[in-house]
Amino acid sequence: MRNVTVLKHPVVSDRLTTLRHKDTQIELFRRALRELGFFLAMEATSRLPAIKSKVITPLGIEVETEELDSARVLLAPILRAGLGFVESFLELVPRAKIAHIGISRDHDTLQAMSYLNSLPSNHDYFDMVFMLDPMLATGNSAVKALEMLTGKGFSPDKIILVCAFAVKEGILQINEKFPLVRIVAATLDWNLNDVGYIVPGLGDAGDRLFLI
Ligand code: URA
Repeated sequence: MRNVTVLKHPVVSDRLTTLRHKDTQIELFRRALRELGFFLAMEATSRLPAIKSKVITPLGIEVETEELDSARVLLAPILRAGLGFVESFLELVPRAKIAHIGISRDHDTLQAMSYLNSLPSNHDYFDMVFMLDPMLATGNSAVKALEMLTGKGFSPDKIILVCAFAVKEGILQINEKFPLVRIVAATLDWNLNDVGYIVPGLGDAGDRLFLI
């Protein structure tokens, strides 16, 4: 497996425990996912280009500093569960643009089908794209979303896939089809069950975030 960063932090482990627990209620689930998202956003944004700047401090001293232009960041949440990370990222990159990607999967074949694509055409404007999907399982949805992004001209080396749970199968598929895409995950789980769910995982992330 290549191009994967897995977080290691006690707060991350704690929030993963909350997310995994089958009895965690919806409000706590949402909060844990949002808080986990802060840590993922810290890591994912660490390579954003900094712009040289100067400020004068209250001591009257001019100092060379750096700033971010967060307007040049694109957040691409994959519906539904990717929405759970949007607020976390906006805390760090408040002027980021948001383009929703709607992907459903066929329950029998596990193939991904897109039903919404609000990606912009001005790919040149953006420094970086954070594709948000808490669950990297088979990798089929992520590959479909990456095809949509690259189809709009976004280059794979500017795309970071951000997920909470990832398994080897999904990572290897991304490595093979999009070798330049980087992945930031909160944990690597064991494997997939026969209906494509991550084991041990947390169940259906979209249902737990919106319905249960
Ligand atoms: N999507 C989910 O919500 N959960 C999984 O385990 C896999 C994909």
